[in-house]
Amino acid sequence: MDFSSFDSRGYRTVDTRTGYGDWVESYEETVNDAMDIALLDRLTVPRWKTARRALDLGCGTGRTGAWLRHSGVTAIDGVDLTPQMLAIAERHGAHDRLVEGDVTATGLPTGTYDLLTASLIDEHLPDVRALYREAARLATADAAFVLVSYHPHFMMHTGMPTHYRAPDGEDIAISTTVHLISDHVMAGIEAGWRLAELREAVIDDRWVEAKPKWERYRDHPISAAFVWQRS
Ligand SMILES: C[S@@+](CC[C@H](N)C(=O)[O-])C[C@H]1O[C@@H](n2cnc3c(N)ncnc32)[C@H](O)[C@@H]1O
Repeated sequence: MDFSSFDSRGYRTVDTRTGYGDWVESYEETVNDAMDIALLDRLTVPRWKTARRALDLGCGTGRTGAWLRHSGVTAIDGVDLTPQMLAIAERHGAHDRLVEGDVTATGLPTGTYDLLTASLIDEHLPDVRALYREAARLATADAAFVLVSYHPHFMMHTGMPTHYRAPDGEDIAISTTVHLISDHVMAGIEAGWRLAELREAVIDDRWVEAKPKWERYRDHPISAAFVWQRS
């Protein structure tokens, strides 16, 4: 669904690679761990420690990769579209191999990964089905796919796209598409995944402490984590 129907900010919008290339220096200090890391911490189905080889789709600067390492995953590859984000990931060193590419057509070998993750990237994809299909192609027969998403309710309710503040102070949006929860569920099912766990994070004390003005959003869901398994 096109985000423009909900946009309340009217920021200038740039494409994904331009946006993250520009945001890169301040990205890690801007993203609140409550959005994704806190949700990953709550998941009970994935067996992180026994994963043989993981693929971090849209690995960015390596935040997700660092969390995976910390959680006991020992072999992790990463793919991302934005070279500047990959350069930081390289410095962080959480990944064994980093590849510049599109998560919907990675070019990586079929049936290779028993753990796939995609955290905070799907809102940049015009069609989320392509991500689920590529994850399925890359997956082994016993794989899990963990996807953490900016919640469609929060985007629609607040009218706030994924955005960043440029060095000159301008707030800039990165091309955003709204995927409903049902878009995810149907895309996963159609690609041959089985939903094993779904958790949502709401605006709570931790969020309000970081962003006091968000008291007005208290209890609204802001992110969601899906855990898919091969059927
Ligand atoms: C919000 S960051 C998330 C990075 C990391 N997963 C994290 O949690 O910090 C989104 C990342 O997705 C990447 N991205 C967006 N669309 C992509 C695509 N089609 N293929 C590959 N990477 C993409 C961007 O370049 C950016 O690094």
